Amino acid sequence: MKIAVFAGDGIGPEVTREAVRVLEALALPGLELSEGDVGGAAWRKHGHPLPPKTLEIARAADAILFGAVGDFDCDKLERHLRPEQAILGLRKELGLFANLRPATVFAGLEDFSALRPEIAGAIDLLIVRELNGDVYFGEKGMRTLDDGRRQGWDMMSYAEDEVRRIAHVGFKAAQGRAGRLCSVDKANVLETSQLWRDVVIEVAAEYPDVELSHMYVDNAAMQLVKGPGQFDVIVTGNLFGDILSDLASMCVGSIGLLASASMATGTMGLYEPIHGSAPDIAGQDKANPMATILSAAMLLRHSFGLEAAAARVEGAVAKALADGIRGGDLGGTLGTRAIGDAVLERL
Ligand code: IPM
Ligand code: MG
Repeated sequence: MKIAVFAGDGIGPEVTREAVRVLEALALPGLELSEGDVGGAAWRKHGHPLPPKTLEIARAADAILFGAVGDFDCDKLERHLRPEQAILGLRKELGLFANLRPATVFAGLEDFSALRPEIAGAIDLLIVRELNGDVYFGEKGMRTLDDGRRQGWDMMSYAEDEVRRIAHVGFKAAQGRAGRLCSVDKANVLETSQLWRDVVIEVAAEYPDVELSHMYVDNAAMQLVKGPGQFDVIVTGNLFGDILSDLASMCVGSIGLLASASMATGTMGLYEPIHGSAPDIAGQDKANPMATILSAAMLLRHSFGLEAAAARVEGAVAKALADGIRGGDLGGTLGTRAIGDAVLERL
């Protein structure tokens, strides 16, 4: 069990530390952890957000536990040197094309949602976001038009095989859940989305047991706030998935509770909390490590097939929350280490 641990920037190191303690407490045979530098932290030390050495550690690992990247001091750097390039580079280099972002409300936390508790309580959905294509990885540039105006441009595209492989992930996920898949696009305006929709419909023929629906992304944003309980699995492209998954996290309540997995074909995966580096509270023992701990649970499940161990970790987090363990994100006073301790006690 070779796990690369990339803590990154801001609160990344402190939340990752707690998740590592949980993994170690499970005393899994063959567990081997190796640390690597990413993000602004790596840029400071090595002059690049994703140094070759880090990539090497990643390639040698069976799975990656990732903290967060993002650092205000780096915002003025050329784009290829910015911290975000570490996560984008890992996604691309390792072919991590399928991003799984579950959003569920923990019992008793309905009041923390930005939505009315009875609406929030019904949330149990999974966003399957494509991660290797779309406008994120298309050609881009800045140019000056003939009349002297500056223009920024980014090319959005999807090839059919890229849509097909993420569609399969979406359909399979739906088969393992309530059997409903909603494909989100903007086919009323974008050719990229028209192809997306056509290919998803083609793939649907292989999954007669899954009920497929389609929704435009603007409507999906509205429906996620109006009645998030209607969704089981949402499959969507890179940009729309980025936006909708943040939206879904606030419907749940705290972004400090949401984990994610980014999978390649096979069992290689990168696991990270969906929150960012939160530089404003970094190093102050204020961040909630639960999202990272829950990401470690996803790692056990998706990369190593250790369902029982994953459920044990998730159970410990749920128990801690049920017992009233709360950090600042949930109106409490407990710090990062104390929350980690509370989860470990219940493990
Ligand atoms: C996410 C983040 C990243 C993204 C950033 C850090 C590049 O927002 O994982 O959702 O846009 O994909
Ligand atoms: Mg995002």
